[in-house]
Formats: sequence, C-alpha cells, structure tokens
Amino acid sequence: MKTITTNLTKLVTLLNDGDYHDGTTLGAELQMTRSAVWKTIKKLTNYGINIHSVKNKGYAMKEPLILLDKQQIKKKLTDKNIEIDIFENIESTNDYLKSHLATKKTRICLAEQQTSGKGRLGRTWHSPFAQNIYFSCLYFFHKDLSELAGLSLIVSLAIAKTLSSYPTEKDFFIKWPNDIFYHHQKISGNLIEVQAETNSKCSAIIGIGINANMLEDPQNDITQSWTSLQKITGKYIDRNELVATLMSHLVSYLKKYEEKGLSPFIKEWEMRDYLFKRDITLKHLNTKISGTGRGINEQGHLLMKCADGTLKAFSSGDTTIAK
Ligand code: BTN
Repeated sequence: MKTITTNLTKLVTLLNDGDYHDGTTLGAELQMTRSAVWKTIKKLTNYGINIHSVKNKGYAMKEPLILLDKQQIKKKLTDKNIEIDIFENIESTNDYLKSHLATKKTRICLAEQQTSGKGRLGRTWHSPFAQNIYFSCLYFFHKDLSELAGLSLIVSLAIAKTLSSYPTEKDFFIKWPNDIFYHHQKISGNLIEVQAETNSKCSAIIGIGINANMLEDPQNDITQSWTSLQKITGKYIDRNELVATLMSHLVSYLKKYEEKGLSPFIKEWEMRDYLFKRDITLKHLNTKISGTGRGINEQGHLLMKCADGTLKAFSSGDTTIAK
C-alpha cells in the first residue's frame, strides 16, 4: 500500500503536454534531484506508462494521463467533509475501508492500481495502473441490514446515471443485480460488503469498478466481453471528474433509497433492465435454472418466468444470456 505523492502528480502534469522535458529542468521545477526524477520516470514505466526517453532531449509522454487528485475531486463535491484517501497502489480499496468502520463517517478510497482487486463471486477485478476507476465508499445507514436487499440495484442505477452523462449513441443497461453493460459489453461492476451495527443501523462498503480509459488487455486477463468509456466516446476521460459525478449521484440515490426504499426507482430500473424478456440462465447455489427475465419485485429480487410457466423470484445468483 502506497499513497500517491504530490511529486508524482506534478511530474505527470508537466509531461502531459507531450513535449520533451530534460531531467535538469524537470528537477528544478519539482525541486528534486535528476536522479529522483529518473527514479520517478522509471516507476511510471514499470507501471506500464509509455514514456519516451531521448538523449539530449529528455522525456516525453505521448498519450494523455491525468492522475487521481484529491483537490480536484473535493472541489467538485458538495459535501466537503467527506474523507478521501488516494493510493498509488493497494491490494483492494474495499478491504482498506474495513479498518475505518469505527469512524462512523462517509469515506472514499481510490487507487491508481489494485494488486488484489476483488470481483463478485470470488472473481478478481483487473485493475491496471491509472487507467480505470477503483472506488470504494464507506456509507452508514440508519436502517436495519434486512432492509438493504436492493442496495446493489440502487448502486448500479447511480453508476448507469453517471455513465449516461457522457455523450454516447446508445444507453447503459444493468444486468441484474450489478453489471453495467453498453451494447452487450461490460463496463462496470460493483461489490458491496455490508455490516450490521447496533440499534438497527448498518454500514456498507460500496466498491465500484468502472473501465474508464482501458483500451486493451494485453495479458487477456478479462474473461468476458468488455468496453470502456474511452472506447465508447473516443475521448480521454478525466477520472477526477468521473469520480466526482459518481459520488454526487451515489449519495443522492442512497439518500432517497434510505428515505423511500426501492419503489421510486422501479421505473428507472425497467428502463435499464438488460435481462427483461431475454432468455436467461441463472446459476443459483448449485443449480442452473433457465427462463425469461420478467423484471424485479419490490425487494429487488429477479423475477423469472421458468420453463414450467411459473414466475419465480431469486434473491441471488449469476445470470447469463442464453445463446
Ligand atoms: C464485479 O462486477 O464482479 C464487481 C467488481 C467490483 C470491483 C471494485 S474495484 C473497487 C473495489 N475494490 C475491489 O477490490 N473491488 C471493488
């Protein structure tokens, strides 16, 4: 676990003009020795950032890169009291927030890279350096844990709303309960870990991964069809803006959900329901059930019209579209 340094952010900002900068000038601007500049450049190249190094000219970065920046994010948030921790690398932003449960305050953790990013159902979440959003939010509810059944649907709706603020030809859909899809390709997922507190209160660590600027997966680590915001829009995405928009939608959706439950969101869900009227297979415990997606019930459970004609509700499981 390593926090992101101001020098790293400043160096990247200087190199972001695409021109060559020599080590001495960079050192003077950053008040660092030439060797410290070289070490920082080396660190970035080890993370996979493409930096050209030419004798007598210096260093140049040919693709845009904006690192996560606490001030840039805070500036855009309405609630200035939210604590934000940003790491250069960390095992998992969700796991980090577990050590802050006693604080009882909303807190965000972001990282440029996760070394053990967690997905749902024990999967790993591919988390390359500075390309995507690896975001977790610790949030406290004045509700009993049993009343949070639809939480991951609400989080998915807030993510889809955030993504829809970027101009695209098509809209974003949600594959129950937590996958965001764009044109049949996954762009985001969320992993929520809840904890019961005393006096009918509870807390949740809401972990969100969004593919922002990822254009390729050279190691072929991702096992399903995927896309990213940059692939869709053709533009480099400023992740600080994306995080601030996400946080403001997330908080407003969570507040409304806490006050009014799932019912005010049903219409919005119907508009984004990726599984509706599709032939699907649900892996539930050790069985596979086939049927057609029929929306959700008031608890947020998936409704499926099964082969025998009955309508069944499922509270958990992994769905796939039948071929
Ligand atoms: C999924 O679709 O399987 C859920 C993916 C959740 C990934 C995010 S990235 C930030 C947070 N930290 C983690 O370790 N996982 C979540």
